[in-house]
Amino acid sequence: MTLLRGGSTDVWARLVADLFIERLNAQPGMRVCLPTGLTPVPIYDELADAVTAGKVSFARAEVFLLDEFGGVDPGDPGRCDQMLERFLLSRVDLPAARFHRLDLTGDIDMVCRAYEDAVGHGCDLALLGIGTNGHVGMNEPGASADSLTRRVSLAPDTIAASARYFGHDRLPTWGVTMGLGTLRRSREIWILASGAGKASIVRQTLHGPVTTAVPATQLREHPSVLLIADDEAAAGV
Ligand code: PGA
Repeated sequence: MTLLRGGSTDVWARLVADLFIERLNAQPGMRVCLPTGLTPVPIYDELADAVTAGKVSFARAEVFLLDEFGGVDPGDPGRCDQMLERFLLSRVDLPAARFHRLDLTGDIDMVCRAYEDAVGHGCDLALLGIGTNGHVGMNEPGASADSLTRRVSLAPDTIAASARYFGHDRLPTWGVTMGLGTLRRSREIWILASGAGKASIVRQTLHGPVTTAVPATQLREHPSVLLIADDEAAAGV
């Protein structure tokens, strides 16, 4: 796992977006896993501007949503698919059929198996946020390195943090996430971190013991994983 320091949050967002644009231009049919949460928002702004300016196109890309909250209304603005639509997909030229989302209204086990099949040999690139407890996606502490797409319970901290997305107090307690094993099939992984609140987990992810107690550490041995942090998030390294 290599640390890439991005500078101020603005500079960091441009750096990640520029790297992403380079990858997508080199491989227009790139299969990419994208996260939601607040971390990627300034990066998605940069990407949307780049598409508008004709610098890059999602027309041939394929996007896999990293995870989804369960038990929330289809139109709830806090849902992961709604957030990704709002912050990125409604502003770029990705054909709707090339967006893989997790519809959690049916048989969840079947949904998970179908998602694993769709991801297949793995994404070309997986972008991930990181929780203050080291979760990636909804792989909470305890998740095993070979876990696949599955239903999970959310950690109390994660439930509390999700209030930032929902704007109401009917917060989800479970979700479906790509597993650590699913993510480890990606050719390249970028873990994104910004802000002082992530400094401690960034340090642990890079230098702490590899342990299921800090799920992100289990990505450390992946052959191509970058932890891209802004100055505040990298302050403790
Ligand atoms: P955040 O969430 O980007 O809103 O901080 C990250 C995460 O919990 O994975």
